[in-house]
Amino acid sequence: MFTNLQYRILKKISPAAPDCCSGSVYEGKSKLAVLMGDEFFPKIAGKVIIDFGCGEGADAVEMAGGGAKRVIGIDIREHVLQEARQKALRAGVHDTCLFVSSTKETADIVVSVDAFEHFADPAGILRILSSLLQPAGEVLVSFGPTWHHPLGGHLFSVFPWAHLIFSEKALIRWRSTFKTDGATRFSEVAGGLNQMTIVRFEQLVADSPLQFADFELVPIKKLRRLHNRLTREFTTAVVRCRLVKRT
Ligand SMILES: C[S@@+](CC[C@H](N)C(=O)[O-])C[C@H]1O[C@@H](n2cnc3c(N)ncnc32)[C@H](O)[C@@H]1O
Repeated sequence: MFTNLQYRILKKISPAAPDCCSGSVYEGKSKLAVLMGDEFFPKIAGKVIIDFGCGEGADAVEMAGGGAKRVIGIDIREHVLQEARQKALRAGVHDTCLFVSSTKETADIVVSVDAFEHFADPAGILRILSSLLQPAGEVLVSFGPTWHHPLGGHLFSVFPWAHLIFSEKALIRWRSTFKTDGATRFSEVAGGLNQMTIVRFEQLVADSPLQFADFELVPIKKLRRLHNRLTREFTTAVVRCRLVKRT
């Protein structure tokens, strides 16, 4: 009953699929340079890189064209891997940039961009990232929005924090009017959505074979004056960190 009312409100607010998460904020810029800093491309020069949760491969292709020795993009969705392979072919980097669902190779640097809030088993992924890393290697992670960010529900954030106001049931029912993957939970949407928070991520790393070498929370620009230890879950745009093997 209550779900029905919420569903009807959601349908009224957004009768069709919302236009979100297009990544257009990076248009004309290198997403990797924006997220990882200007030192990123000099750092990967001549290195073997794994891009974990590579999606359609734009970052992996950019790294292969930007000086990396070899790039392996990993994702669980075969159709995005196929799209990524086409991208590498068009960019002429298909000899040095391959896309697979798993690998036994190890890398100097493992990169994971905008994926940690999507992994169904993030603790398991941290163990995999550690196993893919050469002993002196590092994992560079950037992700967000996290779950308590105004738009942390991704597509479910029809307005800021809507994903925290409406029930999962109502949101999933609303989504099923324009998405056909049959998801019945947030965790089942295509690509995954694990409701990751900053405190949970810190705990996952603390319990993993990796440790923080650097950890940075980038505030939402308009809320940066309010950003502090108490408000960080609600005011952080991007979680950025460098992980190394635990000593
Ligand atoms: C939001 S996309 C980000 C893609 C890309 N890194 C980017 O920044 O555009 C997250 C990706 O993580 C992938 N993913 C989810 N779970 C995964 C897993 N267990 N192993 C590998 N990739 C996974 C999804 O399929 C999806 O393509």
